[in-house]
Amino acid sequence: MPTVVLADGYVGSSSCRECHADEHQSWHDSYHRTMTQVISKSTAPQAIVNTQVQVEGQTYSFEQRDGRFFVELDDPTLHGQRATRQLVMMTGSHHMHVFWYESDSEHTPAQLPIVYLIDQHRWIPRRSAFLRPSDFPKTTELGRWNQTCSSCHSTHPRQRLQKETHVWDTHVAEFGISCEACHGPGQQHIEL
Ligand code: HEC
Ligand code: HEC
Ligand code: HEC
Repeated sequence: MPTVVLADGYVGSSSCRECHADEHQSWHDSYHRTMTQVISKSTAPQAIVNTQVQVEGQTYSFEQRDGRFFVELDDPTLHGQRATRQLVMMTGSHHMHVFWYESDSEHTPAQLPIVYLIDQHRWIPRRSAFLRPSDFPKTTELGRWNQTCSSCHSTHPRQRLQKETHVWDTHVAEFGISCEACHGPGQQHIEL
């Protein structure tokens, strides 16, 4: 999982609530807040609770254990070997959920090859949701959240590709698009 680290004057949305309760409430009710979420008992959608789906001949078995959520899949990051992985985050929330599972690289989640359409209660292949030229090289999408999605779906992301190991160690001030993504860092404002 990427790590939440407050830095550079970013203090997090809960610091704004005391003085801006109405704005906080209206933001809290919005899809901006939930654009990237950590998967837990309170956030996990029903679609990943003890169920099995087949998409393009591949079986995904979802299981909940001790408040954590797992998927058994033919893991693209292990050349298709069957593996059970913990689902750690999701991106989207209004129309679609993209799920991220723990890979062998601690702060670099891998992307589930299927995407959940909320209105239709249906899973589809990722490439049917995110269109690309047909000659685009096939990738495992490992590191995609760190490299790409974090820049718009989190607050104050620092991507931090580690030069020696070539793994990501991404820091964010907050998952989702919070107050400071639009208003900028709040520390000085609060001190004043
Ligand atoms: C200790 C109280 C306090 C806290 C905490 C606080 N603010 Fe404020 N904020 C104020 C006050 C007072 C104003 C001025 C209100 C006015 O002029 O009507 C203000 C004004 C603002 C404005 C401009 C409003 C305008 O009309 O131009 C924004 C945007 C804002 N705050 C965002 C934030 C954000 C984001 C946070 C959290 C990071 C935050 N504030 C935390 C007290 C606070
Ligand atoms: C340049 C900014 C940007 C980047 C980078 C970006 N997104 Fe988005 N994304 C958006 C915006 C803006 C929307 C809202 C579009 C809309 O609702 O019409 C969105 C919407 C979405 C949605 C649908 C949200 C919903 O309401 O259900 C998903 C899922 C999503 N993005 C996933 C991703 C993933 C996965 C990546 C990385 C591969 C990514 N995005 C990268 C800006 C971005
Ligand atoms: C997606 C961007 C975005 C996010 C997220 C966001 N704001 Fe705003 N906020 C705005 C914009 C744009 C305005 C100006 C709205 C206007 O003038 O009508 C605004 C206005 C305000 C104002 C001025 C008073 C008002 O109601 O017009 C305050 C205070 C404020 N926001 C606080 C917050 C706080 C606190 C949060 C988080 C809990 C937050 N905002 C989240 C974009 C955002």
